[in-house]
Amino acid sequence: VDLYGAERANSKGWDLHDADDLAEIEQARAPFKTHQWQVSPITAVDAKNGAVEPVHNPADPSDQVGSVTLASPQDVAAALTAAKPWNAPAQERRDVLFRAADLYEQNFGEIFAALTREAGKTPMDAIAELREAVDFLRYYGARALELEHPARGIFTCISPWNFPLAIFTGQIAAALAAGNGVLAKPAETTAINAAIGVRLMLEAGVPAEVLQLLPGHGAVVGTALTSDARISGVCFTGSTATAQRINRAMAAHVDPTAPLIAETGGLNAMIVDSTALPEQAIKDIVASAFQSAGQRCSALRCLYVQEDVAETYLEMLYGAMDEQALGNPWDMSTDVGPVIDQKARTDIQDYIEAARREGRVMKELKVPNHGTFVAPTVLRVAGIQDMSREVFGPVLHFATFKARDLDKVVDTINATGFGLTFGMHSRIDDRVQQVTERLNVGNMYINRNQIGAIVGSQPFGGEGLSGTGPKAGGPAYVRRFTKPQAESAKT
Ligand code: NAD
Ligand code: ALA
Repeated sequence: VDLYGAERANSKGWDLHDADDLAEIEQARAPFKTHQWQVSPITAVDAKNGAVEPVHNPADPSDQVGSVTLASPQDVAAALTAAKPWNAPAQERRDVLFRAADLYEQNFGEIFAALTREAGKTPMDAIAELREAVDFLRYYGARALELEHPARGIFTCISPWNFPLAIFTGQIAAALAAGNGVLAKPAETTAINAAIGVRLMLEAGVPAEVLQLLPGHGAVVGTALTSDARISGVCFTGSTATAQRINRAMAAHVDPTAPLIAETGGLNAMIVDSTALPEQAIKDIVASAFQSAGQRCSALRCLYVQEDVAETYLEMLYGAMDEQALGNPWDMSTDVGPVIDQKARTDIQDYIEAARREGRVMKELKVPNHGTFVAPTVLRVAGIQDMSREVFGPVLHFATFKARDLDKVVDTINATGFGLTFGMHSRIDDRVQQVTERLNVGNMYINRNQIGAIVGSQPFGGEGLSGTGPKAGGPAYVRRFTKPQAESAKT
């Protein structure tokens, strides 16, 4: 299937074990090692601008990354008035989005530096994030030519900090591919990465009144942009609680046919049975739970290992965790960097301390005592029912199960109401089928890790409390940004 159109394919990567690739990255990001980005609202009208907030590197508070001027209420009002759909032909929209993808790739040095210094991304995570952003631009750009229905109008796009470029770009690219105008509100902590993306999309040719950036707090700018009758839809990625708040705000003010496309949180499990290949399973457990410091909606939160092999797995897991390089995410060899900010760190550490008081801490690594690092940790639980909420960090919950209880385990996972990702390691096909047919989960990964869905080949999105669909990076996504009309209404 030609997912991207013509000659296009997934974007190029870099191999962190290749000396030439390492040198290329080092050289490109070097000018941005101490650069200070100054970000303001990017609007089609003169901005009045609100408060200024400094941005610090989560790995090193002494490194000021820049500052962000928040959008004032006047800026939001003026941007809403100025916003226009993108009336250019589909071919032109596609070409501009493809050009933006090329510009993202050409500016990889600045992007890697900003991802690391603002969002704590390791080089491995920064590469994956840039590639995903580029893939979204090309994949959604190519979809512009297939649309049967017109744009809806103006979309509000609200994104989280954990994929400050990829998810931010993906939402916008989909809305633009369909011909909508966009008002983008990035997460509070990652407006610099968002501003780089908007700058490059405008440079590629997206008109100023079609794409506007409004940095600000969720409760202020986010609320204003989701409760205005002029918006025709909201694309949101973030916590389930915020999605529910947005749903209520829209219900009170916005056309009831306007869609809320929400991708939200998860309580993600993995089941490992006694037939799994331990070395492979351990590698995938460590990547799923601790890569990106566990700050992925897709990350493994609760691991179930069949009790017959549990002791062996624990020993191997602890050994593999001890091999993880923790620390400065700028270093090429770092596996696990910091969490996003002090608030997140305190929240996760409080959760670990509560588990410690109950004697449930099984394994804990040591992390630098500066910056906002949290030690990758394993906590004992009876099952996923012991997790009261999504803990957004490097915390793995460990449970065992008896083979005869497999259906009960699956029912317990379903009972959380979330359904984002699931992993299973087993060499018995019937058992895999028994589990996957019973589970209500958006993305299931068998005998591999459960993070890092690839645009175009692994459409990503959840069931139940984890999202509304359609899946991002899949063929149905961009269509949701259009307005279905009967044939007679189109003429
Ligand atoms: P969050 O819900 O706190 O914030 C997300 C965005 O919503 C931010 O831009 C924030 O400013 C904005 N916001 C907050 N309150 C708002 C309001 N009342 N009205 C409008 N906007 C508002 O989430 P977060 O902490 O930034 O991100 C982490 C969460 O995102 C986790 O739950 C994670 O699972 C989820 N997530 C889901 C996916 C997915 O694809 N399903 C991907 C990444 C992250
Ligand atoms: N799409 C991201 C992943 O699969 C969230 O990890």
